[in-house]
Parts: sequence; C-alpha cells; structure tokens
Amino acid sequence: MTVINTLKHRSAEQLAYFLPKTTDSAIAHAMHYAVMNGGKRLRPMLVYLSGLAVNAPLESLDRPAVAVEIIHAYSLVHDDLPSMDNDALRRGLPTCHKVYGEALAILAGDAMQALAFEILADSAQINALALIRLLAQACGADGMAGGQALDLAAVGQTLTQNQLDQIHALKTGTLISASMVMGLQCGTASAKLTQNITQIAALFGLLYQIQDDIFDVEIPTHDRGKQQGGDAELAKPTYPAILGLAGAKTVLKRLAQELERLLMALPPSGEALVTYLKTILSRSL
Ligand code: IPE
Ligand code: IPE
Ligand code: MG
Ligand code: MG
Ligand code: MG
Repeated sequence: MTVINTLKHRSAEQLAYFLPKTTDSAIAHAMHYAVMNGGKRLRPMLVYLSGLAVNAPLESLDRPAVAVEIIHAYSLVHDDLPSMDNDALRRGLPTCHKVYGEALAILAGDAMQALAFEILADSAQINALALIRLLAQACGADGMAGGQALDLAAVGQTLTQNQLDQIHALKTGTLISASMVMGLQCGTASAKLTQNITQIAALFGLLYQIQDDIFDVEIPTHDRGKQQGGDAELAKPTYPAILGLAGAKTVLKRLAQELERLLMALPPSGEALVTYLKTILSRSL
C-alpha cells in the first residue's frame, strides 16, 4: 500500500473509533451517518501529510485529523439544510436532514462541533490548547462559519473576484489551512518551511473551492453524488458565475501553475504531500 492509501485507511479507522456508536442514540446515528458516508477525507490527509513532512509522530496526528474531518462533516450537514443550500444529495446519499429531519440534523451538527473539540482536549499532547485555538479560529466567525454567512449574503449579488476570493478563503480555505498547520504544529518545522506550507495551504484552499464550483457546473449528479447545477439554480457566488466557465478554468490553471512552483520548494520529506495535492487537483470528479 502506498503511504496515501495507508493514511486514508487510518483516517477511516480513527473516525470510527472516536465517533459515538450508532446504537447510543438517534443523534449518534445521525452523526455517524454524516461522517461515515464516504468523502475524500481531504482534511485528515492534509493533517497527516503535512505532519509527516515535518517528522511529526503519526499518533500525534490522529486526533487533529479526526477533529478537522468531524468539523468539516458538520459544516456539510448545515450547508445542505433547506435554509442554506437546500441540497437533497451528499456523497451519493440523501442528505442528513432528509434522513433524520431538520431538527436532528442541526443538533447532530452542533454535537459534532463539540465532539471535535473534546477529542482535541482529551489529548495528552502539550500542544492540545494550541490545536484547539487553531481549529476554533478556523471554523468560527472569522473562518468557515463567517465565510458561509458571506456566501449566503452574496446570493444574487454581483461580486468582484476579490470579494469572491475572500468568501472562498473563509468558507473553505480556513479549514484546509488549519489542517495543514495543525500537522506542522505536531512536528518540528523551520520558520521558512512553515511559511511555505502556510502559503501552499491558502492557495490550495482557493483552488479547491474553484474546482468544486466548476464541477458543480460540469459533472452529472450521478457521477459526483451532489446535485449538478445547484449553484446556478440558487444564484450562488462562484467563479463560473462571475467569470463564466472558460474564465473560471483559466484562473484555475494559472493558480495551479503558481501552486506547482511553491510545491517545488518543499524538501524531500514533503514528497507525499506534493503527490497528494497534485492528485486532488488533477482529478476529474
Ligand atoms: C465539499 O468538500 C465542500 C467544499 C469545501 C468544496 P469536499 O469536496 O472535501 O467533500 P467530501 O468531504 O469529499 O465529501
Ligand atoms: C461549502 O461550499 C463549503 C462549506 C463550508 C461547507 P459548497 O456549498 O460549494 O459545498 P458543496 O458543493 O455543497 O459540497
Ligand atoms: Mg454552500
Ligand atoms: Mg453546498
Ligand atoms: Mg459546491
């Protein structure tokens, strides 16, 4: 098995270990459904691979990897709610609120957020508080939740590219950056390497959301497991909406080249991270 497959497997095992058992309660069932239903596990992979690039012990990365994925999964549960993106399909399955009802889906999201911090707080690592703070900032009003609020407020508005970049950076980039920086904080990184990886994380976060926006236009529902065309239907702020599909693809290509240049500066210990980031950006679904 390649290091990437091994880590993906580890992410799934660790998530299953830390989540409440489905038999515990209805809310536990909904939490389980929201997390253990597929997904690329991008953010745990970024924790592991950034950590390994700076020689972090693998066990020190498990809790941050699980915590950030649980936060991400909660953000998707809430993102799909009727009052937000009103989506019925997620990862090829009915969305959490379609299965468990809106109230339980909201509460499952709330409980997932609490659980993520409990998992970090229970760690015996001396950097637990720093990790908690980092993740809290990334998912709060100046991070993911703030970005989601701006995304909703921008529906139907004409934005500049800078305004859209700001929304994308907050709603998607902050959790991606937090994943990579948490990985760094579990190892020993020079100031220069920390700066490089932080810059890579911010650029990759923007690229990732632009790619998602393009896929929303282009990829059929049954291939992607998410409703095709949902963004345009709701007049969401996206790259294709402001630049057109061709314009969005041109920006994606230019930013991907910029990222390639930054990746070349990473030391050999970052090789698996580089391979993984390139694989994600070159995927077709
Ligand atoms: C979806 O995230 C929302 C975005 C920020 C683009 P992912 O594309 O990482 O979704 P999963 O976890 O693989 O389902
Ligand atoms: C969501 O962006 C970002 C989050 C913080 C959840 P999208 O609304 O584009 O994500 P999808 O396309 O529904 O996965
Ligand atoms: Mg959304
Ligand atoms: Mg959505
Ligand atoms: Mg989307």
